[in-house]
Amino acid sequence: AAVPDLAGRHVVISAGGTREPLDPVRYLGNRSSGKQGYALARTAAARGARVTLIEANTGMADPAGADVVHVGSARQLREAVLKAAPGADVVVMAAAVADFRPAVYAEGKIKKKDGQEQAPIALVRNPDILAEISAARPRPGQLVVGFAAETDEVLANGRQKLRRKGCDLLVVNEVGEHRTFGSEENEAVVLSADGGETPVPRGPKEGLADTVWDLVVARLG
Ligand code: C5P
Repeated sequence: AAVPDLAGRHVVISAGGTREPLDPVRYLGNRSSGKQGYALARTAAARGARVTLIEANTGMADPAGADVVHVGSARQLREAVLKAAPGADVVVMAAAVADFRPAVYAEGKIKKKDGQEQAPIALVRNPDILAEISAARPRPGQLVVGFAAETDEVLANGRQKLRRKGCDLLVVNEVGEHRTFGSEENEAVVLSADGGETPVPRGPKEGLADTVWDLVVARLG
């Protein structure tokens, strides 16, 4: 059994990918499987934490030992995170949140018109939940962890993103063809605001999750 080094701690984890509705039958989505977030939830529970998992569109069964909140869109995810965060020692944003959503939601199904070659779909920016929670820190001493998928200049871009978002730890994945999304394995570097850089070799998503919790435990004091 794992060492219960998260006993007495409450962790909030977001997992999956948001869907931004266009009309009653359509949405803009992404390919995030939610597997990394679920691995974080399972490993945190095994280490004794109270776990709140905020799940977006994974289609996976609720993991044992977690309170699960189901959401669809980025705005619903934000509401659930803001509601859970004041009681949390750690907030981990593992979900893939849509940067933009359709500017208007059509109450009826959008119809194509004869001869129409372009769809006039305007998008507006979604709130950045990770940056917002990092700035607000609704609970003193709270730690905030983000994820970033980068295709190039992985470390430099990761460092910049860590600063911009204001989080304590940023898990940086190199993404490209056939990497990471939907896979059972992951490979990453965890950057910390105190300058740390922890490489995590390719392996099961539980391994990366446990490295994140090790770094969290070392910083919770
Ligand atoms: O900016 P980027 O999407 O690369 O940042 C990824 C990180 O930020 C993830 O931790 C993701 O959960 C979080 N994020 C967020 N709100 C957004 C976009 C991303 O919390 N609107």
